Order: sequence, then C-alpha cells, then structure tokens
Amino acid sequence: MANKERVTFGSKIGVILATVGCAVGLGSIWRFPYMVGSNGGGAFLLVFMICTVLLGLPIMITEFFIGRHSRRNAAGAFKELAPGTQWSLIGYNGVLAAFLILGFYAVVSGWTLEYIWQAMTGSLSGKTTAEFTTDFETFSSSALRPIGWTIVFIALTHFIIVSGVEKGIERASKIMMPALFLILLILCIRSVTLPGVDEGLAFLFKPDFEKITSSVVLSAMGQTFFSLSIGMGCLITYSSYFGKDTNLQLTAIQVTVLNTFVALLAGIMVFPAVFSFGIEPTAGPELVFITLPNIFEQLPFGNIWSFIFFILLALAALTSTISLHEVATAYVHEEYHMTRKKAAWIVSIGVAIIGALSSLSFGLLKEYTIGGLILFDALDYLTAKIMMPIGGMMICIFVGLRIEKKVLKEELTNKGTITFYFFNTYAFFIKYIAPAAIGLIFLNELGLIKK
Ligand code: PHE
Repeated sequence: MANKERVTFGSKIGVILATVGCAVGLGSIWRFPYMVGSNGGGAFLLVFMICTVLLGLPIMITEFFIGRHSRRNAAGAFKELAPGTQWSLIGYNGVLAAFLILGFYAVVSGWTLEYIWQAMTGSLSGKTTAEFTTDFETFSSSALRPIGWTIVFIALTHFIIVSGVEKGIERASKIMMPALFLILLILCIRSVTLPGVDEGLAFLFKPDFEKITSSVVLSAMGQTFFSLSIGMGCLITYSSYFGKDTNLQLTAIQVTVLNTFVALLAGIMVFPAVFSFGIEPTAGPELVFITLPNIFEQLPFGNIWSFIFFILLALAALTSTISLHEVATAYVHEEYHMTRKKAAWIVSIGVAIIGALSSLSFGLLKEYTIGGLILFDALDYLTAKIMMPIGGMMICIFVGLRIEKKVLKEELTNKGTITFYFFNTYAFFIKYIAPAAIGLIFLNELGLIKK
C-alpha cells in the first residue's frame, strides 16, 4: 500500500478514543479484578502499577513510534524499517497473538451478551449467591448457547471492521467510550455504599509484601501487557493511522492513565461487593459474572443495573475485539493483497473456530488440558504471560539496536515541534532496562534465579 495515501483517523479526539477503546476492555473490567483476587490483592496491584509505569508507558511510546514512522501493519512495519531481516518475526508474533487472544476474548464477550439477555428477560431476579454461581457454571459449560453468543459477537466485530477505519472504528469508539466512563462511575458510587466497603478496599489497596512471589510478578506483568494492548502490534497498527501532528507521548500518557483509572474503578466496584456478599475473591474468570448481578439484584431496580453494566462490558469488549480483528485483517489485506472484505472473512471464520473450541473447554472438552490448563486458560496464559512480554521485549531491543536515536527523536517530537523531556533516559530505558527487566521476570518464574 502506498504510504502517503494511508487512511488516517479523522480527528484528534477520535485518535485517543479509538486507542483508549483498544486498551480499555474486558482486560480492565473482567480480567483485572480476578487477577487481583487470585494473586493476593494489594500486592498484585502494587506490582501492576510499577509495571505500568516502568514497562507499559515506554513500550507504548515505542510502538507508536514504529507504527506512525512506518505507516504499515504490525508485520509490514518491521519489513519497512528493517528490510530483508528477521525482525518482522516480531510482527508475526503479534499478528498470531491477536488471533489467539480474540479466540478466547470473544467467548467472554459472548457471555456479556447472555447476561444482557438475562437482565432484559428478568431471569437474574430473585437468586441467591449460590444460584448465581451454579447458573453461571451451567451456562458457561453448556455447548451451544455460549458458542452462539461468541459467534454473534464475532459477527458484530466483523461488521464494524468491514465498514472501514474511519467510519467504523472511529465512529463506534466516539460514542462508546464516553458512555462507558459514565456508567462505570455510577456503578462505582453504588458499590462503595455497600457494607463490605472497608474490607474490600483494604484487600485491593493494602499490599501484603509476603505475597509478592515470582508468579504474582509474572501475572502482574502479563496483566500490564494485556490490559494496555502492548507487545503484539495492535498499537503499531492503530498508530499507523495517526496523523502527522498527533502528539505520541501525550497520547500514550493519556491512554495509560485512562486505562489504569478504569481498572481501579473496576476493582473498587468489585471488591466491596465480594466481601459484602461473602464471595471468594479467588473465584477466577467468573468473578465479575457472579459478583455484580449479585449486588445489583439486591438493590432497587436490580435488573436495570445489571442491564446497564453488561451493556458497558459488551461495549468495552467490542472496541477491543475491533482492534484485535484489525491487526489480523490489516495484515492479511496488505501483505496478501486481498480485499479488506475477504481478509476480514478469513479472520472471522478462523476466530470463530478457536472461539468455539475455547468455549467448549469449559464443558465438553474440559478433560483436554495443556500443561494442566484448559484451552481457554492456556490461550490466556500463552498470550498474556509469554507472547506479549516477549513481543514487548523484542520491540524495545529492535528500536534500541536498529533505529538511530536522531530518527526516533524526530518522530517522537514531530520533527522538533514538541519537546520530549527525559528523551535520553527513555532511550536508555527501552534499550537496556526494559528488556532486562522482562528477561529477569521470566528467569525468576522459571526458577533460574536463586536467592
Ligand atoms: N487491552 C484489551 C483489554 O484490556 C485487550 C487487548 C489485548 C486488546 C491486546 C487488543 C490487544 O481488554
């Protein structure tokens, strides 16, 4: 594709909203609370925050550099910046990660549709905590219904993707993201007026340093990558649509802050309720699906609260599935010279197959495990804890080794028109510190570092 003619997002606010939409999603609202819950509460939050500032932000800026400088898709970008080398493997890792993430993400997205449906039909009313738990388990382990919803969700994503970058992605994000913030805020205020609030907030915010183990650190790093969508090419693809005057550093800061803010709001929304209703914080992927309807049903107009919440979750998921789909679609479209439509179909069908299999791994295929994990969990582990951190590490090494500092600085300061404070620190950081830190976290988890 001719670089100069590449489509761009139509407005500044569109850039930010689309990128926030990519980052903010089930990762912050569904995955973050259950990771906090099963990794020791405040200890996890502390490591997550450190990883966000020290790894998340610099890697995001670096991906923005790669995307806007090359103006290509995730794999094409490396071919453009380092022709004839193997660096494009980083891009392939990213495209594959996007595809695999979508394969389990679409399942959870489908669950949100089921809960919207249940709220609408009133079937969430009058249940006990135990019933919410068993009903979720019966639903998620059944064969047809969750697969049906997964496919509906993929179809929605497909529809927006074929409508194109500006009309589809940007317009959808512009409406969805502000609505999301508003609804989240209302729900948060509702939750902090519950009786479990002190215990819930202490669990979330008071770190118990004894609980910081190697696997908590790896999980927190994985959550940072997953939740910020870094290390796999989404942000490279999106920033290839940024305009020349987009302030890359500022956009990265805005996206990171907003994303962290949403995760914290989600935590504040979930944990008071967990303690108030005696739910196990370690419940796992079903945590939000049993906690929240539970709170809402015990409030006046419970169904309406549940309805609003699951609409919110579905919208947040949609802006992320769009970005995941876009990575794979842009790659197939541009590298195999296929129409966008055809490329999108190939991706959608592939994802529907993986989605169906990972949905079945909660029931019919439960016995088939990979390293002790069902397919759904294995895909999550492989992408968030392995592929994305390795991708992030390689992205840093790539820019550190292959890109002249002058070029990097020019792109990140829009040819000197904006200042980049601490540029040298940043450059040193991504070349040495970030890759070393990620490497050490891996070695530590593998037990190769002895105390
Ligand atoms: N960051 C998204 C979320 O939090 C998930 C995602 C990962 C989206 C990677 C795109 C790329 O839900």
